[in-house]
Amino acid sequence: MIIVCPQCARKHKVSPDAIHAYAKKNKKSLLATCRSCSYKFRVSIESLMETEGKAASRANQANQKPARKICVTLSKGGVGKTTTSVNLAAGLSLAGYKVLLVDTDTQGQSAYMLGKKPKAGLTELMTRELPAEDCLVEARKNLWILGGGKSLAGVKRIIDRKSFGAEWTLSEALAPLDTQFDFILIDTSPGWDQLIVNVLFYAEEVMVPVALEIMPLHGMSEFVKSLGAIQKYRKEIQLKYIVPTFLDTRIKGPQSLYQELKKLYPQLLCAPVRYNESLSEAPSFGKTIFEFAPGANASEDYRSLVRRVSGNQSALV
Ligand SMILES: Nc1ncnc2c1ncn2[C@@H]1O[C@H](COP(=O)(O)OP(=O)(O)O)[C@@H](O)[C@H]1O
Ligand SMILES: [Mg+2]
Repeated sequence: MIIVCPQCARKHKVSPDAIHAYAKKNKKSLLATCRSCSYKFRVSIESLMETEGKAASRANQANQKPARKICVTLSKGGVGKTTTSVNLAAGLSLAGYKVLLVDTDTQGQSAYMLGKKPKAGLTELMTRELPAEDCLVEARKNLWILGGGKSLAGVKRIIDRKSFGAEWTLSEALAPLDTQFDFILIDTSPGWDQLIVNVLFYAEEVMVPVALEIMPLHGMSEFVKSLGAIQKYRKEIQLKYIVPTFLDTRIKGPQSLYQELKKLYPQLLCAPVRYNESLSEAPSFGKTIFEFAPGANASEDYRSLVRRVSGNQSALV
């Protein structure tokens, strides 16, 4: 359990046994002294117990079945990775699934899109500075987030310094969360680095959002080659979904690129997400597309993606 000093924001680990002993004596609060700034403050026993209880009940509710782990990735930026991760995660949670969204991008935009400013996230989990419970933020009902951000640069250094097994660093850190969720979605940064390799050693399914333009399509074939190199060492990782994004139905080019993709990847190709301004407006209000513009075509498109991924044809209809 963690107590945060309201004066200097320093986090202190406390033994759950000590807190349970207070609770047994029917004490409502305890007087804590910050070891860093010596500030004295009261802490509610009830709120500490509640945080712990929430973690336990989430673990029980998810039936102990391992989560489906899907990473949303493509080396090219601006193709809709974060938009797709956030809205797919939100849609699955609205459909009743327990979802964890892990942001492995130093830009940390996933939490921003959900209107959250996490104090801790993936970095603190990977450095083991804080227990998982204090790194997760409940963004919506059924939807939790492990925030990314600039501090992930430090995580990359930790991975670099490992002399062996570096590609499993993320998997080791996330392993305890496996049975607490139905879906774990991982948003990735553009480019190709040791953190993305870690993601591909952790996830089992790959979703590639691809903007319907020539350059992103080229980027996709490059990515498929890199994925092949990983698959030599990790058979479990499979390209499962290709999601065409930014489909502009008014012009011919994107339509013909879509048809081309359909010929190349008939099994993997999902229904496209159409170009829609609401998708770029919603994040500045901290809202998902379902909250910001439920009637917009993009909302319909992401609902369709939720059905495709969950295999539940009656989800969100
Ligand atoms: N289908 C879409 N229609 C219109 N704008 C979109 C669409 N998908 C994403 N956007 C906008 O495009 C920009 C890039 O999307 P983003 O999801 O951040 O890409 P990535 O994570 O791949 O860099 C963002 O401003 C986003 O709001
Ligand atoms: Mg992004």
